[in-house]
Amino acid sequence: MTTKPTVCKAVFPVAGLGTRFLPATKAAPKEMLPVVDKPLIQYAVEEAYEAGIRHMVFVTGRNKRAIEDHFDTAYELETELEAAQKHELLALVRSIKPDDMDCSYVRQPRSLGLGHAVLCAQPLVGKEPFAVLLADDLMTGVDGGKSVLAQMVDVFARVGTSILAVQEVPQEHVRRYGIVAGDAAGERLTRVHTMVEKPRPEASPSRMGVAGRYILTPAVFDEIRQQPRGTGGEIQLTDGIARLMSTEGVHAYLYEGKRYDCGSKHGFLEATVELALKHPEVGPDFRAYLRNTIC
Ligand code: UTP
Repeated sequence: MTTKPTVCKAVFPVAGLGTRFLPATKAAPKEMLPVVDKPLIQYAVEEAYEAGIRHMVFVTGRNKRAIEDHFDTAYELETELEAAQKHELLALVRSIKPDDMDCSYVRQPRSLGLGHAVLCAQPLVGKEPFAVLLADDLMTGVDGGKSVLAQMVDVFARVGTSILAVQEVPQEHVRRYGIVAGDAAGERLTRVHTMVEKPRPEASPSRMGVAGRYILTPAVFDEIRQQPRGTGGEIQLTDGIARLMSTEGVHAYLYEGKRYDCGSKHGFLEATVELALKHPEVGPDFRAYLRNTIC
């Protein structure tokens, strides 16, 4: 009996330069910027964990040591908290890396693009389907519902092809996204036949923009390796997926939830305000503050 492949590994490409957030990202990783009290990378790792994934693979670069430290044991801090009997804080610190979660790290020696970063993870991923999460896209599911990646894992269990998370974007914003078009293939599902990176609004094949969540089959590695360099000499993930479409099915999934583009200042501020309002500790006071002081 053959068992259907499941998604056991998640890749987090965190080797980008984060130039849109300079000077904050000169010496500190963009992925460690906190939204309320948690760094961006922790939101993404929690989303993968909630989707049933237990092996996290980080593609890191220069200045990214803080990410490894964040998911490592903080021996001195834990000893201090234990001695001070600060049990809640101790549990909070320990919960960052649950015992059944493994973390692996691989370096991308130069920022040659997202496709290249994903390729760097191949030795750790092997011949399995895997998820890719861009931590600077902070994704929330609908209240009380599943996380975006958990929804995609469910879809993968049904269709078994690569899956791209998509959202409808305004026509004037299509040039900020990879845009896909294809044939309806079920509820919230499209079988993709066209994928273009950052099209002009008048030339865009649709308004379905790709968000930073993917489930990919391992065949994508060969496609990325063989593709010519794209815009700006970078090795784009979009090009690799577009090539994959000629040999395998690829589906776009219209996710339920919200994406905050925390790679941009505006998106980061939106996430900070909206998540602060929902935060059990600071939410009520922050809402009152906004009402009384700002509005
Ligand atoms: P971005 O282009 O949004 O991130 O890449 P960036 O390059 O860090 O930021 P800006 O544009 O200069 O402000 C999307 C994701 O891909 C990763 C980034 O870390 C980010 O999570 N990435 C990008 C890599 O890991 N390696 C690369 O060579 C490029």
